[in-house]
Amino acid sequence: MSNLRALLSPMTIKNLEIPNRAVLPPMGTGLCNRDGTVSDAQLAYMRRQAASGAGLLITEITAVHPDGVVVPAQIAAWDDRFIPGLKQLAEVMHLSGSKAAMQLHHAGRESHYLLKKGRAMGPSAAPSLIYGQAPREMTPEDIQEVILSFGTAAARARQAGFDAVEIHGAHGYLLTQFLSAISNHRTDYYGGSFANRARFVIDVLRSVRKHVGDDFPVLLRISAEEYIKGGYTVDDLLTILPDLVSAGMDVLHASVGTHGSPAGITSAPPEFDTGFNVWRAQKIKAAANIPVIAVGRFNDPRKADQVIARGEADFVAFGRQQLCDPDFLTKAKQGRYDDIRLCIACNQGCIEREMFEGKSIRCAINPETGQELVYPQAPAAVPRKVWIVGAGPAGLTAAYEAQRLGHDVSIFDQENAAGGNILYACKAPHKEIYLDWIEWLTRQVEQSGVSIRTGTQITEALIAEEKPERVILATGGEKIIPAISGIDLPHVVDAWQILDGRVAPGRSALVVGGGLIGMETACFLAARGCVVTLIEQMPSSPVPKFTSHGYSLHKYLREKASILRFGCSLKTIQPDSVTLIVNDQEEQQSGFDHVVLAVGMRPRNDLKAYLEESATPHTVVGDALKVRRIMEATEEGAKAAWEL
Ligand SMILES: Cc1cc2nc3c(=O)[nH]c(=O)nc-3n(C[C@H](O)[C@H](O)[C@H](O)COP(=O)(O)OP(=O)(O)OC[C@H]3O[C@@H](n4cnc5c(N)ncnc54)[C@H](O)[C@@H]3O)c2cc1C
Ligand SMILES: Cc1cc2nc3c(=O)[nH]c(=O)nc-3n(C[C@H](O)[C@H](O)[C@H](O)COP(=O)(O)O)c2cc1C
Repeated sequence: MSNLRALLSPMTIKNLEIPNRAVLPPMGTGLCNRDGTVSDAQLAYMRRQAASGAGLLITEITAVHPDGVVVPAQIAAWDDRFIPGLKQLAEVMHLSGSKAAMQLHHAGRESHYLLKKGRAMGPSAAPSLIYGQAPREMTPEDIQEVILSFGTAAARARQAGFDAVEIHGAHGYLLTQFLSAISNHRTDYYGGSFANRARFVIDVLRSVRKHVGDDFPVLLRISAEEYIKGGYTVDDLLTILPDLVSAGMDVLHASVGTHGSPAGITSAPPEFDTGFNVWRAQKIKAAANIPVIAVGRFNDPRKADQVIARGEADFVAFGRQQLCDPDFLTKAKQGRYDDIRLCIACNQGCIEREMFEGKSIRCAINPETGQELVYPQAPAAVPRKVWIVGAGPAGLTAAYEAQRLGHDVSIFDQENAAGGNILYACKAPHKEIYLDWIEWLTRQVEQSGVSIRTGTQITEALIAEEKPERVILATGGEKIIPAISGIDLPHVVDAWQILDGRVAPGRSALVVGGGLIGMETACFLAARGCVVTLIEQMPSSPVPKFTSHGYSLHKYLREKASILRFGCSLKTIQPDSVTLIVNDQEEQQSGFDHVVLAVGMRPRNDLKAYLEESATPHTVVGDALKVRRIMEATEEGAKAAWEL
């Protein structure tokens, strides 16, 4: 059994007893109706999150003003007509005894939607750090209207049955824009020194306090540090803490960074350790003696327990960990730590899917999240005997879901271990946690009674002999070997041979291909002291820097002084040199111990033709359908199992 004494202890804020110190931080879902009302999908999502039993649940960003929305599908509280839906949301949030807070939000200039419509506003007409476009400068009347709208929205939250409100002062939205010298160039009462720039936040706090009364807890979420060149620091923030407290702040939720900060630090990638941001919360707590919520890559309740036990923070928020496994706290209470599906901080299904793909929330490794309304719970009406060919992310997820629904599952992999390409993907710096995930998934499948038959290649002959009732083809991709002169030379290897240690890195390498696999292999080599040159025929990097993972890879290679050449292709390989094509000109380069091929993959689905010919019901999933990412592999694997 668990000994999470500190994490599981209650704490009272004003008159509100919060049953434990775990917090579901606000997370936008993109699930609500386009008119800003709460949808069934959102209620189902929140019902599932509430089952976690976290002491305090905070809603996603709730718009206080129509000219402050990030996207049209954002819940709103700027009018009484939203109260009935908000009431339903609050009810669902209370189902497991948690307390519920509503997050009050205004996007300011950080709304692509409003920028496009010419309706975005900010303290000054300084361009958005994310979208490059400038908003209009707020007039004194705009400022007073928005301050009032925070207050009236807070009153509606109370009316709808919420126990508290949280003002969103973080991540580069309107309140941060006022705090920051980068976005606030005003010369009036709300601009100038840090203390002046903080006046907007203070006035919002006062307005909220006035509208909810003295007994109602008011949280302020703030980026404790802007984490951007020229941005404010924790020490700046410390100077205004007494004013925030006297304006009505009961709890400070100490986040970090803005959506324009480097490295995606707000929802930090794996190179940031769990709890990397606690020191900022601790500094604030020590200075102001108010309860603080620490947040930032927590996925282990034991670490959170220690943070609270040591007095570094009063609450710990688990964001993406909740999306990844809403039962993690229950499992921890039961001492079942090995059963917890740890968040790998890939951001693919959650924040980046929403921000860069404009889609609603998912989790790359938990197919239930964001799909609660369609996620099947009851056993299948007709149990099937299914063969799953391939035990990579797609096949293993299909097996997990199919056994859960009562199907008779056989899963095979031709390799000696399950995991598919994740066994290679986990080798790049900071990606060990991907292996933890695949080991978790393998363990869960095996513990459910399904034995994974590794070392077993499925062939047409086997299918013809055994005649499986259904087949899920999850055979992944196969590497492409370009037909160029010199490809068979002994120093020419592929990324997989380097990553699994079959070939030891030399002193120098030419990595051919700048996609994800090439970049990761380059990082792997650079981490081992190898001098790396990476070439890519596309004119720019196929791995975008705006994703947190892409940013990390580029940064890592830059720090290791690796050379990245775009618009550069490999023509031929000689024993002691290579011929490259750059700007239609040939160029010789020498001095590479290895030429490492990472020129991409194509789907490996040669069994498909036979399955069609033999009229065997089948579904092709993951990279076997089209070479992509973990998100698509798990999503298609799960769906194939649901539809058996
Ligand atoms: C180095 C590297 C880094 C990567 N990094 C990332 C990343 O950071 N993020 C991301 O989203 N994606 C990443 N990817 C891509 C990701 O790994 C794949 O998209 C994902 O593994 C696809 O899953 P899958 O199950 O469809 O296929 P695979 O993982 O390829 O699994 C297919 C399995 O099928 C087995 N198989 C094939 N044929 C047969 C047969 N006839 N009989 C039995 N078994 C068979 C194979 O042995 C294999 O184990 C990376 C890939 C590589 C190589
Ligand atoms: C999908 C997603 C949506 C988010 N939406 C919000 C939001 O609405 N308001 C907010 O203050 N923070 C938002 N965040 C940030 C999280 O609340 C949290 O601070 C961040 O993910 C770091 O915590 P974690 O490492 O535990 O995930 C969002 C994060 C994610 C992943």
